Amino acid sequence: MKFDTPATQNPIDQLKVVGHPLDRVDGRFKTTGTAPYAYERHDVAPNAAYGFVVGAGIGKGRVRLIDTSAAKVAPGVLAVVTTLDMPPLETSPHNVARLFGGPDIQHYHQAVAVVVAETFEQARDAAARLRVDYDREPGRFDLAAAAGAAPLVGGDSQEGSSASPIDRVGDFDGAFADAPVKLDETYTTPDESHAMMEPHASTAAWEGEKLTVWTSSQMITWGKADIAKTLGLKPENVRMDSPYIGGGFGGKLFLRADAVLAALAAKAVGRPVKVALTRPLVANNTTHRPATIQRVRLGATRDGKLTAIAHESTSGNLKGGKPETAVSQTKLLYAGANRLTSMRLAELDLPEGNSMRAPGEAPGMMVLEIAMDEMAEKLGIDPVEFRILNDTQEDPEKPGRPFSQRQLIQCLRQGAERFGWANRNTRPGGKREGRWLIGHGMAAGFRNNLLVKSGARVRLDGQGVVTVETDMTDIGTGSYTIIAQTAAEMMGLPMDKIVVRLGDSDFPSSAGSGGQFGANNSTAGVYAACVKLRDAVTQKLGFNSADVVFADSQVRSGNRSAPLAQAATDGPLSAEDQIEYGDLSKKYQQSTFAGHFVEVAVDAYTGETRVRRMLAVCAAGRILNPKSARSQVIGAMTMGVGAALFEALEVDTRHGFFVNHDLAGYEVPVHADIPHQEVVFLDEVDPISSPMKAKGVGELGLCGVGAAVANAIYNATGVRVRDYPITLDKLI
Ligand code: MOS
Repeated sequence: MKFDTPATQNPIDQLKVVGHPLDRVDGRFKTTGTAPYAYERHDVAPNAAYGFVVGAGIGKGRVRLIDTSAAKVAPGVLAVVTTLDMPPLETSPHNVARLFGGPDIQHYHQAVAVVVAETFEQARDAAARLRVDYDREPGRFDLAAAAGAAPLVGGDSQEGSSASPIDRVGDFDGAFADAPVKLDETYTTPDESHAMMEPHASTAAWEGEKLTVWTSSQMITWGKADIAKTLGLKPENVRMDSPYIGGGFGGKLFLRADAVLAALAAKAVGRPVKVALTRPLVANNTTHRPATIQRVRLGATRDGKLTAIAHESTSGNLKGGKPETAVSQTKLLYAGANRLTSMRLAELDLPEGNSMRAPGEAPGMMVLEIAMDEMAEKLGIDPVEFRILNDTQEDPEKPGRPFSQRQLIQCLRQGAERFGWANRNTRPGGKREGRWLIGHGMAAGFRNNLLVKSGARVRLDGQGVVTVETDMTDIGTGSYTIIAQTAAEMMGLPMDKIVVRLGDSDFPSSAGSGGQFGANNSTAGVYAACVKLRDAVTQKLGFNSADVVFADSQVRSGNRSAPLAQAATDGPLSAEDQIEYGDLSKKYQQSTFAGHFVEVAVDAYTGETRVRRMLAVCAAGRILNPKSARSQVIGAMTMGVGAALFEALEVDTRHGFFVNHDLAGYEVPVHADIPHQEVVFLDEVDPISSPMKAKGVGELGLCGVGAAVANAIYNATGVRVRDYPITLDKLI
């Protein structure tokens, strides 16, 4: 189905099932421990041996030799496969560093060996007996040191066609020079780790030339193609399966060493092998959100109209890697005739930087929305009103191109009202309760809505059960549930007549889980398949398609009606389709908006910050399931508190690795850190996004939260911290 004109009335609009806060259909499997995760596939890969991955102990250089003699004779050892046993493996389009093979070390903890044994403990013990000798080379590990010489990259990242790597609208330099009120500040955000609960893990098995990998992946279509390319296999000889995933946050968008080494190890020992990356390897062997140094310049008239907006970001990555696109929201969020955005990319030899939840906007909004708070203060305007004053209903870089829906003002107004914003103390450091300094802060929330084609197959059987199959994944987001709701609505069935099967590369290719595009696109793909199935049912029953209604497990047309199951009495009826998108996103900018409000208390003596209250008001199209959507937003708000107060991968700039590479050293919020959270969704349907009229919320909920916390801390203490995370040493 090609979606290239705004959606009109369709069966989803009945909202008999869609739009309701239903419990997760997979909740019971998960909470009873019966959902099979990648490392526990005894059901399909019995007798799996254990692989233990050894990562390089240097940040850059070459492996000179690997002495495996002691490891090979250790108890229980079945095989040792080293990177010197094979030439460099191919690198897939989604990987920057090589995943295995050959002597070169591009980053710390790049995999150099996998040791396979009967038990995990035996494999780990034998791995400690490997001797690896290196020729170390000096590497570049310090973003601050490399930033000065970092070249400009990109240009308009959306179009990729700009002649200049600096995107300009109007005359920023002239307008900034002339502006009566100006801000020019530089901010930093640290390297961050996804820190998902389930580490990267895979179980692999071979049957002749055919490889099956049970893994933990957000993107099955990419993963299958990439492991085939990496191992030199025909794609048709690879199956990838990832029905349950213990969190991803972008860290599982791409094929990683666990899958590749499980496959190589399984080949070496002739039986299934499972590999989970240890916590240090998750931090240093896989990807992370790159640190940024961001300069923001704002110029405004005395009455608060922005006339000049510049945002320049520098990040680092391995050679061939991409910049963190921290300036992307600044192209779209506020009006202003004169604009400049650019990115610089320093070549570093740290582990690969890549997508982490809301790549670009998450660290970009952490900065832009502090800058807006600072500017509001210079202007003497309330920060909510300052943002409202500079709202735009069209793409500020492409006049005449409207937003499909943009309710930022409504989010801010409703948020301010509910939060009691008008009653706050406006003098920084001016409110105290005993030892606690009390502050309130807010920020806008913004994240784009991305369209990605997505397919599904649906099958009606003689019992009146519809089975949905797609390689879409559920990373804890609720995909199973909203897909079941979509099929139930379309086919006029109750939820218990829908079976959803996900994450298998034998199923039709989907959008996958990334960029908060999973919900809208994957359900739109199921919608498309269900439209075809409805046609097949209508034809089979000989009904008139013009007035056919699917409801209450029945099909009705005129004065005729039949049970839906009747269409499948002589065999199941199947249909497959995908949603594809035309040019609507050229005509309309599609984004999601929020207002974030936070109350903090900062200990006047220790500088300890406690978050006391959080509110998010979100406008993100139709909310397919308010319960799972709320869970996404409160999880994202929690991540925003982590980004504001705790999270930072600390770089050892001598040796080139992240020092605090585990969940003891890399701090994320715990329950005690998180107070009451309130989430409000504005009524919105977006007929430009898809037939579902939905958009994403999973990343929106994060974007802006960090700045709202930072602004609240400023309001509490009068100390403006521009260097995340805002640890207590920076307040005293
Ligand atoms: Mo997201 S960082 O695209 O999983």
